[in-house]
Amino acid sequence: MPFISIVPELKRAQSEGYAIPLFDAVDMVSTEGMVLSAEAVRAPVIIALYDAVFEGPNARALASYIRTRAEKAAAPISLMLDHGKSFEQCIRALAYGFSDVMFDGSQLPLEENIATTRAIVKAAHAVGVGVEAELGHVGQGSQYQDTDSLRRGFTDPDEVERFVAETGVDFLAIAIGTAHGPYAGEPQLDLERLAAIRARVNVPLVLHGGSGLSEAQFRAAIAGGIAKVNVATDLFVTTARRMVEAARATEAVSYFALSKVATDSFEERCGYYLNLFGAAGKG
Ligand code: 13P
Repeated sequence: MPFISIVPELKRAQSEGYAIPLFDAVDMVSTEGMVLSAEAVRAPVIIALYDAVFEGPNARALASYIRTRAEKAAAPISLMLDHGKSFEQCIRALAYGFSDVMFDGSQLPLEENIATTRAIVKAAHAVGVGVEAELGHVGQGSQYQDTDSLRRGFTDPDEVERFVAETGVDFLAIAIGTAHGPYAGEPQLDLERLAAIRARVNVPLVLHGGSGLSEAQFRAAIAGGIAKVNVATDLFVTTARRMVEAARATEAVSYFALSKVATDSFEERCGYYLNLFGAAGKG
């Protein structure tokens, strides 16, 4: 099954009412669990490297590994740069062979976000790579109780049409109440805002900060038009906990056994989200 750009898969997800998850990988073990889960449930999946991993010394080697592994996988897999922070970084991802990139200009003035996103779209489309941008700003879960600053970051429905038209972006991350990392408090989704945004543009919409939402919230967001959901924290927190439990349960701690615990954990958690989002069986 091919190594793919996720753009056509996201359009299909949007029209059929399911969502494709993006999972952030940091190494071969996390990648392997993600690939195995997509194969097991026959689902399309996005494996991503986020900015800090992308700036690490082995980023290019890891990207090549994920790409080669995807080419042999029995499920469609995209390799994406998550939260690309600059024009230069996104162009480097094109050179490394990524199939999709996100440019996160969400903290820039609107005009600058539009101009940089547009330049990245032009370069990426010239080599068949899809582009996600962010309008509004998805903050950190640790600051979740600062509701005033959180709401100030919410996506303005009056800006989305212009942003999509002027940038040519393929899919768009929006801020409607989610946040990255563990939530200090209960996450609340502004589904009316989602409906207002959905009514204005036709591109697939993306929800960041998936860890910590309830199953009902995921279902409501997907029913409201979200076609891609990013998940990271839960995969790493749950897997670390399982590795500690496995290490404590035996006198003879084995690297190989712990590595298998980690791979199995990534496979199980990713499979859970692929099923919950309705992506299972779509690959
Ligand atoms: P979580 O780590 O909160 O799941 O967010 C992931 C994310 O949005 C990555 O872009």
